[in-house]
Order: sequence, then structure tokens, then C-alpha cells
Amino acid sequence: METILRVNLNAVVWVTKGVIDGMLKKKRGAILNIGSASSVYLSSYPLQTLYASTKTFMAIFSRSISLEYKEAGIDIQCQVPLFIATKMTMLRRRSMLVPSAEMFSGASVRWIGHERQCNPYWLHAVQGFVLHAIDAFTIWYGQRYLKWMREEGLKDDGIL
Ligand SMILES: NC(=O)c1ccc[n+]([C@@H]2O[C@H](COP(=O)([O-])OP(=O)(O)OC[C@H]3O[C@@H](n4cnc5c(N)ncnc54)[C@H](OP(=O)(O)O)[C@@H]3O)[C@@H](O)[C@H]2O)c1
Repeated sequence: METILRVNLNAVVWVTKGVIDGMLKKKRGAILNIGSASSVYLSSYPLQTLYASTKTFMAIFSRSISLEYKEAGIDIQCQVPLFIATKMTMLRRRSMLVPSAEMFSGASVRWIGHERQCNPYWLHAVQGFVLHAIDAFTIWYGQRYLKWMREEGLKDDGIL
């Protein structure tokens, strides 16, 4: 637990503080934080609660300081990948949807300086789009149903 807090919270804040003054003097620089899709596309991430929560911190921290330092010529970005075949995920074989570390890092470097938060590997971006669309559809459909239920209740009570 302590390690997750140290790596995802303390290190992000203190390393940023450590490098930012030098970048301000040079009037240029880039900071790339690797967040996670677990904090962006899903409403909850049980059994990896601390991981996803600290990645959420990392994402909002990056997005916010990105605006604070944009005018100073410093690009700060949080990338939010889905699954990559690495030691951490224990996914040994790469596939179209699960790139190797080399495939991901190639895309990752090309995206530096583009958006405050992004998904550089294009098939991750597609998966993210689908997850967002499912979420938006579920909310829209649920809201329609609940509105209908409410109106029926009001009719039953003679209010409508
Ligand atoms: N793989 C994915 O699907 C995925 C998805 C989204 C985000 N990410 C993020 O991508 C980043 C890299 O993950 P990965 O998949 O490449 O994992 P990985 O293959 O397990 O590599 C993690 C790296 O972090 C180092 N590390 C771990 N704990 C540390 C500590 N307490 N202090 C210093 N270094 C430490 C490891 O060092 P050792 O080699 O010495 O152990 C290793 O070099 C992580 O921030 C992860 O959250 C990964």
C-alpha cells in the first residue's frame, strides 16, 4: 500500500517540484505522467482501489498544472493507457488490443506536447471511445426509463 502511495502520489508531486524550476528558467520542458484508463473510463475499479484512486489523483494533478504552466512553455501531459503486455499486468502475449511496451512507448513519445490527457496507442483510444459511448448510452437510457417511471407515478397520484 505504502509503495503505491509513494510512487503514484509522493513521487509525482516531488519530482514535479524538483524539475519545474529548471524548466521555468529555460522557458521550455515536458513532463509526462503515465496515469491509467482505470481512472478515466470506468466508474469503479474494485480490488485495485488504491491503484485507480492514485491514478485519478495523477490525472487531475497533471491536467491542472498543465494549465498553470502552459504559458511558461512547459508541456505537462497525462497518458491514460489501457492494458499493455508488461510485468505488471502479467499479460505475456501482445495482441492488437494489448500492445507490447515497445509499441506503446513508440506511440507515447510521439504524443508528447499534444493534449493534456490522451491515449497515444490508437487501439486504446478506440477502446476508450467505445467504453465512453457505452457509459453515455447507459446513462441516457436509464434516465429515459426513470423519467417514464416518475411520470407514471405522478399520473397514478393524480398529479399529472
Ligand atoms: N501495463 C499496463 O497495462 C498499464 C496500463 C496503464 C498504466 N500503466 C502504468 O504504466 C507504468 C509502468 O507500468 P508497467 O506496466 O511498465 O509495469 P512494470 O513492467 O511492472 O514496470 C514498472 C516499473 O516501475 C518500477 N517500480 C516499481 N515499484 C517501484 C518503486 N517502489 N520504486 C521505484 N520503481 C519502482 C519497476 O522496477 P523493477 O523493474 O526494478 O521492479 C519497473 O521498472 C505504471 O505507472 C503503470 O501504472 C500500465
